[in-house]
Amino acid sequence: MPVTFSFPTTVLFGAGAVKELPQRLVALGVSRPLVVTDKGLIGTPAFRTIEALSGGKWAVFSGVTPNPLEDDVERAAEAYRNSGCDGVVAVGGGSALDVGKVMRVRVSWRDVPLRQFKPSAGAPTLSPCVTIPTTAGTGSEIGRSSVIMVDGKKAVFFHPSLLAKLAILDPELTVGLPPKLTAATGADALTHCIESYTSPEFHPMCDGIALEGIRLIADALPRAVRNGGDVDARGKMQVAAMMGGVAFQKDLGAAHSLSHPLSSLCGLHHGTANALTLPVVMRYNAERKPGLYRRVGEAMGMAQATDAQASDAQAIDAVAALLREVGMPPGLRAHGVQESQFDALTEQAFADPCHQTNPVPVTKQDLRRLYQLAM
Ligand SMILES: [Fe+2]
Repeated sequence: MPVTFSFPTTVLFGAGAVKELPQRLVALGVSRPLVVTDKGLIGTPAFRTIEALSGGKWAVFSGVTPNPLEDDVERAAEAYRNSGCDGVVAVGGGSALDVGKVMRVRVSWRDVPLRQFKPSAGAPTLSPCVTIPTTAGTGSEIGRSSVIMVDGKKAVFFHPSLLAKLAILDPELTVGLPPKLTAATGADALTHCIESYTSPEFHPMCDGIALEGIRLIADALPRAVRNGGDVDARGKMQVAAMMGGVAFQKDLGAAHSLSHPLSSLCGLHHGTANALTLPVVMRYNAERKPGLYRRVGEAMGMAQATDAQASDAQAIDAVAALLREVGMPPGLRAHGVQESQFDALTEQAFADPCHQTNPVPVTKQDLRRLYQLAM
């Protein structure tokens, strides 16, 4: 079967890049954008920068909640219609970007409830969207999907039409991100790069991008956590997170299947959940596919090991050490997860599609055991 390799989103990167937003909107034919964000961002220096660029003329929807709900999407679409908008500027973390991207479906397809939106339903023409991340993690700024909570579960809405026309990566917008969130979102980016690199689909372009993303994160994440004002480290993290988002068009793995229910059922931040599940999944995979992580270790600066097991151990130890260094030690228990929740967690993890592209298959029982090992 032929496969498609596609990297279509224009990315504008650099300190101060966001200042080009007004002229870029004009070039996209947008005169009345709706700014989609969350209430936590209002009043931050990052949002004040956007406000200043708008001259106070752009409509704002700031009702995006963490782990956003179907209702957030409905309310954003309503705000868009009420203000007569013709484009979207999504500003914030992954939640705001996901809502900003997918709410356009509810504008173009008013009669189709979001939960019924599927790639097979056709290709709606959506208004242009510009994404401006204020974290460095999800990669949603260049992704073709939005994750929205539907009936208490994370549902992934995927369609190439959801892609932003332009992503603006301005590291100055992330300097105010606290160390804990910097670490958690960075762990998400690292997980995207590692899981996409090891997922089995043939996509050497994504593999190269993922490995370089890992190299950037190993260098820049500790620096960005130590000193939030390090614009060089912030910029490298933004680019690496975007590269992780590009790479995972190749798909993800079991760490993401384990982490999605940890957010929906236990309220963990998505990046924190990944930091807690990634090393145990790497160990599980390496035992069954020795040598899988050799190039991950090399990307993280490890010397080449002679045998497959040693190279995997080096890579896994390097990942665990990096997570510990940025303040994310292992242990689900410390985050309030209880063994009595394993049945519900395992059910949702097994229903999650990400593990279907794990480098080795996982059963429901394996997922339960991985939760146990992550405790
Ligand atoms: Fe993720």
